[in-house]
Amino acid sequence: MLILGIETSCDETGLALFDDKEGLIGDVIHSQIDLHAAYGGVVPELASRDHIRKIVPLTQKLLADAKRDLSDVNAVAYTAGPGLLGALMVGAGFGRSLAWSLGVPGIEVHHMEAHLLAPLLDPKFNIRFPFIALLVSGGHTLLVKAHQIGHYEVIGESVDDAAGEAFDKTAKLLALGYPGGPAIANAALAGQPGRFRFPRPMVDRPGLDFSFSGLKTAALTTINQHRDDHSEIDSQTISDIAYAFEEAVVDTLTIKCRRAIEQHDVDQLILAGGVAANKRLRGELAEQLSAEVIYPPISLCTDNGAMIAYAGWHQWQRGNTAPLGVRVRARWPLDTLTVDAS
Ligand code: KG4
Ligand code: ZN
Repeated sequence: MLILGIETSCDETGLALFDDKEGLIGDVIHSQIDLHAAYGGVVPELASRDHIRKIVPLTQKLLADAKRDLSDVNAVAYTAGPGLLGALMVGAGFGRSLAWSLGVPGIEVHHMEAHLLAPLLDPKFNIRFPFIALLVSGGHTLLVKAHQIGHYEVIGESVDDAAGEAFDKTAKLLALGYPGGPAIANAALAGQPGRFRFPRPMVDRPGLDFSFSGLKTAALTTINQHRDDHSEIDSQTISDIAYAFEEAVVDTLTIKCRRAIEQHDVDQLILAGGVAANKRLRGELAEQLSAEVIYPPISLCTDNGAMIAYAGWHQWQRGNTAPLGVRVRARWPLDTLTVDAS
């Protein structure tokens, strides 16, 4: 069974081939970072247009590199949400039409389920249900209890900005460029511990929800305090703010993960989504949690086609194939995927 996976929900055009016997046999990605960098964030219309330009040549490259032909493909899986509507329409429109033309099933994939299942692609991890997943990306911050494949309970989420969004917005304030996560992490390497301390939002109340929007305000207040009338802020202060910001986000995520593990009595935590690339977060979780912390390689943490092909295979095994027609959803709660809670 060979599945073509297509990801176009945001600013990466990712395609991959997953074979249920051989595993991942091809993976191509085009990142739009350079396209959006000038604007300090993703411009949805530019994203859609670029997906249109890249999707056919990338499909051809994927098949040529893997020495396969379109006629070898047994199903086409594509991200159907959540994400940017126009961007999703490109991958879903292309994927559904291709499946129809080949006479094979089309499969609608939930982007966050794909992030959550990505570590299962690597056979070296011995993942056991139930586990807790921390899904942290530019659009989402979710704590999920995965009871089994297809049955996910959202136990905590951000009430405002997503963790990645907070990184991106704070990096913009600090003029560190886009995407903000790697830029802040890099600047923080030169930061002095303890010069600034930002709040750890919502840790002193019960529950597993997050709030990150106040942190960018804390960063802005600090920037304004250290800027003379018209002068620029010095680079050491920028690094120190980046350090304090990253420390506050990482601490907050770690505290909530520890709480989730204690409350739900699981022994594995899976870390996924773009922010999972953050080395400090990986380090703190590994050090502070009693549970085993599992994260996929960085290429599988950020958006990619491999996780879509793989999640598509699981959907197909559950008998979930797409009707004829293109459906995409900007919002799509992960717990509505539940197929069998028994
Ligand atoms: O999952 P992803 O690739 O795309 C979305 O679905 O959003 O995540 C992108 C997010 C961006 O907000 C980016 O700033 C953040 O992940 N990110 C990081 C790091 N690398 C990427 N955040 C913190 N530290 C990093 N090293
Ligand atoms: Zn993502």
